[in-house]
Amino acid sequence: MNTVAEYFTTIKENMQTIGEAVGVFAVGIGLGVMGAIRKKNALLKHNKTKEKRFVQHHSQIHELLTEMRVTIRASRCLVFQFHNGGSFADGTSIKRFSVTHESCAAGVTSMILESQDVLLSRCVDIVRIMDESASKNDDNRIHPRDSILRHQPGDSKPAVWWNVKYKNKFLLDGSVVAGNPIFTNLLWNEIGRGSDLTELSRWLDDNSQVVQELTAAVFSAEAPQFLDFFPVEHFDLSTVKKGQQLFQENCAMCHGNYIKGYQRSNSNGLSNRELLATVKVEYHRNTPVVNVGTDPLRAQGMSALAEPLNRLAISKKNGIVVEVQRGYVPPPLVGIWARWPYLHNNSVPSLCSLLTPALERPVQWDVGEAHSTQTDFDSQCNGYPLGEKAPQAWKKNRWGHFDTRRRGMSNVGHDEGIFSENGRSKFSSEDRQALIQFLQTL
Ligand code: HEC
Repeated sequence: MNTVAEYFTTIKENMQTIGEAVGVFAVGIGLGVMGAIRKKNALLKHNKTKEKRFVQHHSQIHELLTEMRVTIRASRCLVFQFHNGGSFADGTSIKRFSVTHESCAAGVTSMILESQDVLLSRCVDIVRIMDESASKNDDNRIHPRDSILRHQPGDSKPAVWWNVKYKNKFLLDGSVVAGNPIFTNLLWNEIGRGSDLTELSRWLDDNSQVVQELTAAVFSAEAPQFLDFFPVEHFDLSTVKKGQQLFQENCAMCHGNYIKGYQRSNSNGLSNRELLATVKVEYHRNTPVVNVGTDPLRAQGMSALAEPLNRLAISKKNGIVVEVQRGYVPPPLVGIWARWPYLHNNSVPSLCSLLTPALERPVQWDVGEAHSTQTDFDSQCNGYPLGEKAPQAWKKNRWGHFDTRRRGMSNVGHDEGIFSENGRSKFSSEDRQALIQFLQTL
């Protein structure tokens, strides 16, 4: 059996011959336009044989690719050709690539036509697309190929703007310990997209006003209120007060204090809405990072990024420092009702499930967007409606299924020592409901 390296050498040799043949075609056309008829005829005659060889080589490459695809059990094999297609306004060339040959398994759609003269940054997507197609192939399901993506934690909950102002360590794991978080976010998005860092640095210097305005907008962002979507009758004041009591005893040391309207000295005469409103948030001056036994992969993943990011000139210049952490930030809980699913990896579908010992939490469920407060949100448990209650349409969407058995997605932790002892919850179902009502007012 041939090795993959041998296939590549043969393909490369064939590509060179094709390159020569294409060159001859181009010369032929050029001379034809100039009217050198005699020469052209001679060339065309010569090209007939070249053309035959050209077609032959193409078919040969295709056969090799197919053989290679079958040998390595892939669903698609491609040959990319890198080239300069066009130039930027300042004259520097734009690096591009085209797919020149492709062999697909049955049922896998060809991508050769849409992959001509494509920007290099798209190359990463294409590698991902290939990976996805490969895993859809039956053969590959039985003999999966190894890929770095298989070892990476998959999900990460995006942070919300309205909580940035309370923190001095950023990201879910608190690994950004210095530097403007808005600037850092902009920078990392651009790095992810493959932007030129010298250009980017210049743009950011010239547009510091934009970054400042964005920072101001983020710091003044407010959380959505439960009462903007549900009637005030949802709440029972004494239940909320009981919930707050439980919160003070079991949660506040990590998540902070939330002073309510009903705790004001002059609360007489306030409306129910005003009584339930949060009037003051007391969160840690120094953002803590705590390990409560939740899935460690997201925090560990930072160890691959921290050093290269800190080493960048643009990070040093802007005082950005990344430190690997062993745990996650217990986030400020302002607007927590609107933040389902819960935990850094979205592995818990509702507050009811979060306040249940990990072994009893749902293992998998269907997810969907919340358009209707009646059908798409469970307002008692605060989160996704589960099982029979989940809308039928969600069950048909194959991207909308969460499985906590996948690597990096586990729903462990945040139970023992917080509200459970030896796997048993110390909260009764009334306690849990009271805590949820209180959390919904934040
Ligand atoms: C010892 C510290 C600690 C205590 C005590 C604690 N938590 Fe947490 N909490 C955390 C940490 C750390 C996280 C983040 C874990 C993660 O994302 O993996 C968290 C996450 C959460 C989240 C999910 C936040 C989100 O955006 O998904 C909620 C809700 C929450 N805690 C509520 C509570 C409640 C209610 C209590 C009291 C019953 C409590 N916590 C007690 C540390 C704590």
